Formats: sequence, structure tokens, C-alpha cells
Amino acid sequence: MAYRDLYAKWQTDPEGWWMEAAGAIDWVSKPTHALNASRAPYYEWFTDAQVNTCWNAVDRHVLAGRGKQAAIIHDSPVTGTKHVITYAELQDRVARLAGALRAKGIEKGDRVIIYMPMVPEALEAMLACARLGAIHSVVFGGFAANELAVRIDDCTPKAIIATSCGIEPNRVVHYKPLLDGAIEMATHKPDFCVILQREQEVAKLTPGRDVAWHTFQYGVEPADCVPVSGDHPAYILYTSGTTGAPKGVVRPTAGHLVALAWTMRAIYNCGVGDVFWAASDVGWVVGHSYICYAPLIAGCTTIVFEGKPVGTPDAGTFWRVIAEHKVRSFFTAPTALRAIKRDDPEGLLVKDYNLSNLQALFLAGERADPDTINWAQRHLNVPVIDHWWQTETGYAIAANPLGIELLPIKIGSPSVAMPGFDVQVLDEGGHPMAPGTLGAIAVKLPLPPGTLPTLWNAEERFKKSYLTHFPGFYETGDAGYVDEDGYLYIMARTDDVINVAGHRLSTGAMEEVLANHKDVAECAVIGVADALKGQSPLGFLCLNKGCNRDHAEIVKECVGLMREKIGPVADFKRAVVVDRLPKTRSGKILRGTMVKIADNEAFKMPATIDDPAILDEIRVALQGIGLAKG
Ligand code: COA
Ligand code: AMP
Repeated sequence: MAYRDLYAKWQTDPEGWWMEAAGAIDWVSKPTHALNASRAPYYEWFTDAQVNTCWNAVDRHVLAGRGKQAAIIHDSPVTGTKHVITYAELQDRVARLAGALRAKGIEKGDRVIIYMPMVPEALEAMLACARLGAIHSVVFGGFAANELAVRIDDCTPKAIIATSCGIEPNRVVHYKPLLDGAIEMATHKPDFCVILQREQEVAKLTPGRDVAWHTFQYGVEPADCVPVSGDHPAYILYTSGTTGAPKGVVRPTAGHLVALAWTMRAIYNCGVGDVFWAASDVGWVVGHSYICYAPLIAGCTTIVFEGKPVGTPDAGTFWRVIAEHKVRSFFTAPTALRAIKRDDPEGLLVKDYNLSNLQALFLAGERADPDTINWAQRHLNVPVIDHWWQTETGYAIAANPLGIELLPIKIGSPSVAMPGFDVQVLDEGGHPMAPGTLGAIAVKLPLPPGTLPTLWNAEERFKKSYLTHFPGFYETGDAGYVDEDGYLYIMARTDDVINVAGHRLSTGAMEEVLANHKDVAECAVIGVADALKGQSPLGFLCLNKGCNRDHAEIVKECVGLMREKIGPVADFKRAVVVDRLPKTRSGKILRGTMVKIADNEAFKMPATIDDPAILDEIRVALQGIGLAKG
């Protein structure tokens, strides 16, 4: 069936469509219906089903005779190691880990934080939680202790599973002191921590609280899969919002299983025995969906890559992994390709490898620029498919469904809405806009299975953030347009979220950090264009009256403060001191106008600006650091 027919079929009978898709999942007790609209505008799917995620991702494949097939390949250029785990081994390891967690009191519904780098044990920890019905929350390793502490207090975990260290090309990341610092800072204390000791750094365990990964599993009885109801939260994943407090996106179990299984076939065209690789991190939604769950649910082999696109050891690493492990579908962020293109502009390293198994390259996480797409298409000789999604949805809202039919690729567009998503472009008043006109992108409710039903501990915030602006719709926070053929174009965010190297960051959170510097009276953070990372954060600092300290010194302290409070992932390296910030007469800081000045783009003088002369001061300050040159 072609894409248009499939989409029409979903439109005609959404519930029937999802019930049919549910056939790909092993149920303990099948759902009798798909949608539960009893609490609209809060929707749930498959609520009366009983199911277990780990069973679907691991055990059922062993039962079907695929025990000897590779489930996970860990390819780690930063440690110089490679390691294969079969489905049978994965089942043993996960059942034992789950047994050990259960022996220490972890039960269905308990939260467990996972703070680990790209090692297979991170997936095993996620799957062990899923096996017990415990709700995991993975925290990205590039966050500072303070960010970890905020998440500990929000989801109140009974346990934290962490690694002694992570390995970045330029340094060893000491996870254990970060973990200890976070627990010290947090009001909530976990009952216990499980520490995976790596040979690169053995951490000191805290007596009475910490147990070692291997020893605590010794002699325990392996745990079986615990059935949970369809709406049971599978995990919480925190993402950036407008304020400093991260949003805890809740992922419902059954919808997650059904939707991910569908996407593996329809979008990525992968099934049992195929090798699938998403070069992301388990700390991000891409890692949750397409390093861990979806490939395993589909019976594929997934690759856990512990390295970078460049420098580990060179810009040919991605091509080496694809060739060596016979990757069929590959998924990465445009920024990673830009890094490779910068080191190897002629794509010479691609020629060293046999990429004949590769059928397509998928890009997401940020806008894919035409240069990067053209470069990849030219050198890899496969379709380069941009697709658009968010932590909130957990999978693509718009894509080019390779497994159904490859639609004509329009460079600059992540193609068309997937079944389940009725995507509309709206004006401020919520009216649909004509093709080609820029507006807010919204999705008609209900959202499909697997998308967020709410935010953890924050139903009001969920409603206010997503459901209030356009009643009857989910507000994506992205702006863009649709063309005459129904292709979407995602152009910008409508909020203060910026995207740095495919990482979603809140300028509001960064402003909260800067405002805490003793000499800073007022501040603003914007995202300016960056050739490698898409956007790069830039701070504006107005100092307290009478402060006559060296500006460079204050900027340096602010850079340090950001690293300490948010973490290296914020990538905050630049700030300028200014006398005043441009504002509207009602006092709103004109961040958008500052972005335009920094990026040297034309802009319309805001009608409500308080004092236009401030814009010249901003321009001069930006020129001082090499921006706003025109
Ligand atoms: N743990 C600890 N620190 C981490 C980290 C982790 N897991 N990941 C990144 N960092 C640190 C880096 O070491 C760096 O620190 P530094 O300031 O001391 O150098 C900082 O965070 C910024 O990292 P990054 O954004 O990765 O920049 P980079 O210059 O090291 O690398 C790229 C640039 C383009 C190679 C890199 O950003 C990249 O691979 N991006 C792809 C991102 C991606 O796949 N996103 C998933 C979305 S789908
Ligand atoms: P995250 O929740 O971290 O996955 O970030 C989601 C945001 O990243 C989206 O709301 C978009 O702003 C941006 N994004 C993701 N994929 C794309 C894409 N293919 N094109 C443009 N922007 C994208």
C-alpha cells in the first residue's frame, strides 16, 4: 500500500489502524480497544492491556529461536574495544540484573535513575527496569551534578544505576563524584546506588549506600517479566522547556511498543536480523527509541557506539562501523555530518569502506541544511532522509517512509506527516494557514500511541505548555510551513529553546545560572548561528552598578558557572558585557532581534521597542567578539 493510501486508511479509522498495528506486539492480555478518551484532552492508549516491554524486546526473540543472533554490538573506539551480546546472553544478563534490583526492593512503579555513558550495561539497566515494571529515567552524562540533583528531586528514585566514569576524547568524565555531589545536593536520597566499575577508573564506593554492579548480582534469582497495564509509565525523560525546571516527559508502555514496532518497518525498513545503528546517546530520546527499544523490539541488532564522528580516531569512523557491522539503516544528527564534512570535505575516507549494505541515512534532531544533505547523498550514494520529531513524541511526526515507499525527497523538508499525526500550520488565532505561509506547527488531538500523555508530577504544566494555546491541538513549539504537496518545513522554535549540536537546551535555564553571578544585575542568552553546531549559546551581561571588575574575568567566571551548574553539554563559551538590554515598552527582552543582529540578518524594528539606540550598542558589543559583521 502506498503512503497516501495508508495515511487515508488511518484517517478513516484511527482506532482500527492502531489495533492492527498492535498485532506486532506480544500481549499478556490483549487490548480490547485502542483509545481511551475518558479524560479528554488527556488521552491514553491500550489502557486495558497487560504487557511487558522487556519480554517484547528480548525474551520473545530467544523463544523464537534467535538466541544466538547478536542483539547488541558495543563498538568503542575510545576504549579500543568491541563486544557482541547475543539475545540469549542479553536475556540472562537482564534477568539477573532485574533479580538483583528486585532483591534490593525495586518493584513495579518505583523510579530508577540511570546515569551511564554509551556502554551496553546502560541498555541492560533500562531493560531490567522494564522487566520489573520500574520506571527509569536516564540522565545524559554531559549534565552537571546540579542537573542530576534536580532530576533526583523530581522523580524521587529508589535507586540510581551509574558508571564509575565516561570517556570523552579529551578526558575521563568522573561520574562518581558527580553522582555523589548530586545526591548531596538533592533533598531526596535514593535507597541505594549500583556502580558499574570501568577499568579506566575504579570509583570509591560509599559504604551502606553503593553496591558494585557485579557483586550485587552474585547468587540472585533471575527475575521474570512483570506484566504492567498499557498506560503504565515505561520511563521519564527530562527535556528542556522555557524555564530552568526540566520537563519530565512520560512514555506510556503499550503505545511505545506498538508505535516503535511500526516505525522500524515503515520508516527505517528494518526487521528481524537487520543491523540498525543510531549514533546518538542513550541520554537522549533518539537513544531511548532507536539505540535501545525499537531495534530490539523488531529483532534487529543494535549498535552501541562509544565515540565521536571525528577524532576517534578520524572522520572515517562512522563509515568503518557501517561497513564492519553491515549496517542497513543509519541514523545520526546533521551536526555529526557537518563535523565529518569539515575534516574530510571530499569524502575521501568514505571510499576506504564497503558500504554496500547501507540502504539509507536518516537525519534528525535539528534542521538538516541542504549542503550537508547534498554532501552525504553525493558520497554515500543512498537516500538521505530528514525526519522531524521531539522528545515528547518519541518517534517521527514527519518522515519519508522508506519501508512503505520512498517519496520524492525535497531537500530542506523532513517530508510528510506520518499516520497518527494530523499536522497543521496555524496562525496566532489558531486558524489553518495557506500552503507556503509560516505559522505555528500544531498536531490535532489526540496524539497517537506512545506520545506523552502528561509530564511527570506536572499535569498543569503539561496542559499549559502544550494544550492551552491552540485548544484541541498539541502545540509543538516549532514554526514552519507546509507546501502544496503536503511536505513540511520546520524553520524555527517559537519558544526560548535552542538546539546546539542536536542537543535541546533552554536559554531560560542558562539565564537563571548567569543571574546567580554576584556581579550580574540582568542577563539574556540567545542562540546564534554556528556553522558546525547549528546554534551556539551567547550571553549578554548587564553588571551591577558600581562593579568595576575586569569584564573578561567576569565572562570567564560565567562560563565556568554554566559548566558547573548545567554541564559541558551547554557548550556555553561566549558572553559580552553591555550596559542595557533591548526591551519592549512592557519590559520583554527582544531576544529575537538580538539573534538577527548577531547573525547579520535583516530585521524589522519592533514597533514596541523602548529605545532603538540600544540595538546599536548591542551591535558594537557583538562586533567586539567577531559577530554582527555586515
Ligand atoms: N559526557 C560528558 N561530557 C560530554 C558528553 C558526555 N556524554 N557528551 C559531550 N560532552 C562534553 C564534550 O566533551 C564537550 O566538552 P568540552 O567543552 O570540554 O570540550 C562538551 O560536552 C560539548 O560537547 P559536544 O556538543 O559533543 O561538542 P564537541 O565539540 O565535543 O563535538 C560534535 C562536536 C559535532 C562532534 C558533537 O557535538 C556530536 O557528535 N554531535 C552529535 C550529537 C548527537 O548525536 N545528538 C543526538 C541528537 S539525535
Ligand atoms: P528533542 O526533543 O531534543 O528531540 O528536540 C526536538 C526539537 O528539535 C524539535 O522540536 C525541533 O525544534 C528540532 N528538530 C528535531 N528534528 C528536526 C528536523 N528534522 N528538522 C528541524 N528541526 C528538528
